[in-house]
This record gives sequence, structure tokens and C-alpha cells, in this order.
Amino acid sequence: MPRRSIRATAAQFDLRPVLREVGDLPAQLTSPLLFGNERPLEIEVGSGKGLFMQSVSAANPKTNFVGVEIARKYATMAAIRLARSDAKNALMIAGDAEPLFASRIPVELLAAVHVYFPDPWWKAKHKSRRVLNDQFIANAVRTLQVGGRFHFWTDVLDYFSSTIERMAMVAPELGPPLPEVCTEAKHELDYRTHFERRSRQHAIPVYRVYYRKLQSSPERPTDIGG
Ligand SMILES: C[S@@+](CC[C@H](N)C(=O)[O-])C[C@H]1O[C@@H](n2cnc3c(N)ncnc32)[C@H](O)[C@@H]1O
Repeated sequence: MPRRSIRATAAQFDLRPVLREVGDLPAQLTSPLLFGNERPLEIEVGSGKGLFMQSVSAANPKTNFVGVEIARKYATMAAIRLARSDAKNALMIAGDAEPLFASRIPVELLAAVHVYFPDPWWKAKHKSRRVLNDQFIANAVRTLQVGGRFHFWTDVLDYFSSTIERMAMVAPELGPPLPEVCTEAKHELDYRTHFERRSRQHAIPVYRVYYRKLQSSPERPTDIGG
């Protein structure tokens, strides 16, 4: 969608219930404060155009979903999808997920964290910009309840392998990596995300894993921010 038409489309909807600014958020991101109920909460980091947010919220009406997307254009596109499907259990936050996970999500609150096709930052000197860095992993896993899930898919093998290594080092309380089931797409949008659709349609391998948190995280070390 070109920028102009995103603005024009956005103007047709009341996006306020489905698109939040970081400055307008409650101090803590919880279901009661965001949705006015006690349902389980799952967060997707880097929602892009919002396909996952739209399909997962429609398929799981008894769970709340928050998508955090740093690029305003994509946060708005994802919010438009949620408004179109009249989602009452999902909203987008336009902002950076890293500080939110560092200090705005209570320990052991989330039922799941989803990270699909994070930006690979190919150049060696830029790899420190990857969202799945040690500090983010530790912060995100701390927010997961025992039994909660951490999903990570990518089409970048180096990102996949190095993240699996770092997960074992930084968050051993997650348990072992588990395989995700991948099924045949039954229609044009029957993919986890837009990037998954693009990779599969171009026959690019997709690496998928999820973890289950087996026990509580250790106390926050003093060198991990928040
Ligand atoms: C490669 S895209 C993948 C989008 C989507 N997950 C998909 O699979 O189609 C990565 C997305 O993560 C977003 N992103 C990168 N860093 C982020 C951060 N710190 N917080 C929130 N979103 C972020 C980018 O703006 C981009 O939309």
C-alpha cells in the first residue's frame, strides 16, 4: 500500500482502539490495563503488515494479542487489518519493543512471545542491532510465565543457528528448542506472516522453532537493563 493510500485508508477507520503510541500506554502492559479483562496476553515483536496479528486474534478470541512495530507505516497497516476484522482482543503499539520488554511488562505475565522474520542486519558490523540480542532474549524470557512459549521463525540460517545457541546460554530455563508444524497453505493468506509467504512462494527455506519455559528465570542480573 503506498504511503498516501495508507493515510487515506486509515482515515476510514477509528484506529484509536487498535493503535497505541508508547507515550499513551499504561505504566505496565497487562490484559486488565490494555483490554479491561483477565485473558492471557501474547506479544508479537516486529509485526510488519500484521498478517499474524489479524489471523491469530481472529482464531483465538479468548486470548489478547499485542503487536509491537517500530515502523509507523507498518504499525498503521497492521492496525487497519485489525480494525477491518473488528478485533476486540488485539492492538498494535507503534514503537520499539526492546525498552517495553526491559521495563514495562511484568515478570512471568505473558503466555507467549512471537518473533517472526526479524531484520537480519547482514553486515558483521551491524549484527549487534539484531532484535534477538542477549539482553532482549533475557528480558523477553523473564516476561514469560512458566509454561509460556517463545516462537522464532526466520529464513536466515545464520540468525537461526546463532539465536538457538544464545537462547541456550542466556535462557536455559526455556528448555530445548521444539519443532513447529508447517502445513500446506490452503489460500493466499494462509501463512504465519507476509515474510513467511514470500519465502515459501520463492522456495526459500524457513527455519522454525519454539520453546516452552520450564522454570522461573533467575533474578535480574545488575548488567541487564530495565
Ligand atoms: C523483516 S520484517 C518482518 C515482519 C513480519 N514479522 C513478517 O514476518 O512479515 C521485521 C519487522 O520488525 C520491525 N522491527 C525491527 N526492530 C524492531 C523493534 N525493536 N521493535 C519493534 N519492531 C521492530 C521492523 O520495522 C519490521 O517491520
